[in-house]
Amino acid sequence: MAKYEIKGGNTLHGEVLISGAKNAAVAILPAAVLVAGVCRVENVPDISDVRILLNILEDMGAVITKEEPGTVLIDCTNIKCTNPNPELVRKMRASYYLMGALLGRFGEANVALPGGCNFASRPIDQHLKGFRGLGAEVEETEEYVNLKPSEDGLHGNRISLDVVSVGATVNIMLAAVLIPGQTVIENAAREPHIVDLANFLNTMGARISGAGTNTIKIRGVEALHGGTYGIIPDQIEAGTYLAAVAAAGGNVLVKNVIPKHMECITTKLQEMGAKITDYDDCIRIVSQGRLHSTTVKTHPYPGFPTDMQAQICICMALASGVSRLTESVYETRFFGYCEELQDMGADILINGKTAIVTGRESLHGAEVYARDLRAGAALIIAGLAARGTTWVHNAHYVERGYENIIQKLTNLGADIVRLED
Ligand code: UD1
Repeated sequence: MAKYEIKGGNTLHGEVLISGAKNAAVAILPAAVLVAGVCRVENVPDISDVRILLNILEDMGAVITKEEPGTVLIDCTNIKCTNPNPELVRKMRASYYLMGALLGRFGEANVALPGGCNFASRPIDQHLKGFRGLGAEVEETEEYVNLKPSEDGLHGNRISLDVVSVGATVNIMLAAVLIPGQTVIENAAREPHIVDLANFLNTMGARISGAGTNTIKIRGVEALHGGTYGIIPDQIEAGTYLAAVAAAGGNVLVKNVIPKHMECITTKLQEMGAKITDYDDCIRIVSQGRLHSTTVKTHPYPGFPTDMQAQICICMALASGVSRLTESVYETRFFGYCEELQDMGADILINGKTAIVTGRESLHGAEVYARDLRAGAALIIAGLAARGTTWVHNAHYVERGYENIIQKLTNLGADIVRLED
């Protein structure tokens, strides 16, 4: 187990290069299972969730070659396995995308239920509803999901999601690409990584339209072919660095971003007093003096992302006045970090889905524990902005989703090191 030691108080200056999007990568890599041929995927982030997924695919018989940093060649042409190694599958959340990908490719799958960040109850009923809608017989035990064709066989269908779910939208897209007929996903998620997955699959020969709206249409094709695709920049990684500069102060150019994807976050940071300038593929943030309070409610895209809830909370904890932060996607998410933040001197009152945050002039260092990926990133930000030394335990959570975080923050002038416990 490792921890971060952060000596707070330095403002952040310089440039930071954002990596490929975690949530796109963890959908696109399993999608390679559907492809007969070599997928050359660029801008793949070097994070532990991606390394686990590549291990799972390799273990299933895929041929994986790494080229220059960030480029991975995946050839799943000869895989035959429909039951990926359960121990590996349980190490991460998005391994459940193998259910859709294997169902689409082989018409059957036997996949262990996933692990990963459990900051809330994370049901998969909508994924299974989608598979059933496509003609699969679904058997769910306490540990596994077993999928096979029903007597009528697999076929395209109209599937209306009861909740807007990124995971269910991805899994249904993966399952439907090679299934005969047209599938329509209604009430689909609209996140940038959904669009990225559709663009990847279309590059390989799929026929998907409407990604980025709430109705996605997929016309089944007979086969997908190899090709080259570059993953979009990570909206949440970029948002995390923006929040870090807002909270700790400084002047940083955040490079390799899609400013449009960042608007839901930058609008709030601007309201809080940070100065934001958009360029074609980068954003400058300047933060001087104290931030102002604001109101934030998380929503599916294009709303304020739940994955930025904890990071914006740190900004609120340091702002002048009282902020309100309402979580509408995962109700229990506050419990991943608010107690730790209180140990650092923050004034937070949780009232159901809303945290009422009374800003303090400063936070102080403490020994705190990350309980999930984004909570860990937020505690690092708190440590950067606090007076004194902070130790953030459970670095492995942060390493699921942030490539080279120590190096990137050190380059900006932060005093942060990784220590083995
Ligand atoms: C994805 C992201 C995660 C982010 C979340 C919300 C990936 C790999 N992970 O997670 O970082 O926090 O979106 O933006 O992309 N739900 C159901 N039944 C289901 C599925 C979901 O009730 O079958 C509910 C969930 O409990 C939650 C809401 O729908 O309240 C949204 O969840 P979903 O969009 O599916 O999140 P994930 O795909 O797990």
